[in-house]
Amino acid sequence: MTGGLHDLLAPAGPQAAALSHLWWLTLAVCVLVFVAVLAALAYAVWRAPRGTKGTAPDLALIDRSEPRLRRWVTVGVAVSTVLLLGLLVASFFTDRELAWLPLADAVRIELTAHQFWWDARYDGAEPSRTFTTANELHVPVGRPVVLTLRAADVIHSFWVPSLHGKKDLIPGRESTLAFRADRAGVYRGQCAEFCGTSHANMLLRLVVEPTDEFERWVASERAPALQPPAGLAADGAAVFAASACVGCHTVRGVSSGVVGPDLTHFGGRATVGAGVLPNTVDNVTAWILDPPRIKPGAKMPPLGLTEAQARSIAVYLLSLK
Ligand code: CUA
Repeated sequence: MTGGLHDLLAPAGPQAAALSHLWWLTLAVCVLVFVAVLAALAYAVWRAPRGTKGTAPDLALIDRSEPRLRRWVTVGVAVSTVLLLGLLVASFFTDRELAWLPLADAVRIELTAHQFWWDARYDGAEPSRTFTTANELHVPVGRPVVLTLRAADVIHSFWVPSLHGKKDLIPGRESTLAFRADRAGVYRGQCAEFCGTSHANMLLRLVVEPTDEFERWVASERAPALQPPAGLAADGAAVFAASACVGCHTVRGVSSGVVGPDLTHFGGRATVGAGVLPNTVDNVTAWILDPPRIKPGAKMPPLGLTEAQARSIAVYLLSLK
């Protein structure tokens, strides 16, 4: 539902490229060995002594000479060893390639996984350049990105196949993942460690864009929440401020809850519910009325709002570009 490329074999950066090279090499070696083993088997079956209806096969025809058998076993062991060592060396060099990435001007993002969404804090050099968003990351083309990964509840796993391999997010432990995206586009990520009922609904959108567009996005994300235009959006703002929403969600300047995703610029995101549905008034209204109906296991409960109240909040939230 998030859209975007989700393809291990269409790498968009050096890390994914290194991994896909290793994948192709492993596939080639395995196919080669598989074909060789099948060919040897076919040859053995073809050569085997045959009987007829009346006579048993003449087993004396089988070549049981010890030195010959030993030679073939030795060749088999030697070839397997060389191929396996080759793969070992290749994976060692892939590892080195993954680790090699100059990080001088890296974009730093602290990514915390929750059941079942992603909390992202962009870490600028000064506190004033820091901001929080959720479920949709923007990064500039060609610049390294360093993710600091944490988990708030259970083990999750970050995986954007077009950009890097998987990395677990483990409660109480911090890990990092560095990558670079060299092609602009939208890439789809998926939590890759079973983390509960809606594990499969824990998607991530990664938008790779030219530096000027990225800087514009950063500037708008850092800005405080927009004032809603008069009308339904303003009504929604009032309902939002008076409801339980504020206990869990931050809209900068309005509320400061930290249990659920930051909604300060919710209207700028493409999806609601971490990739479950496109971000439209109808979908957000349905979401507000009963989140677990749309996303089983979602921690946000139905709040007992009327359909009209939910719709006004949806219009308000979508006005927060
Ligand atoms: Cu989070 Cu699976």
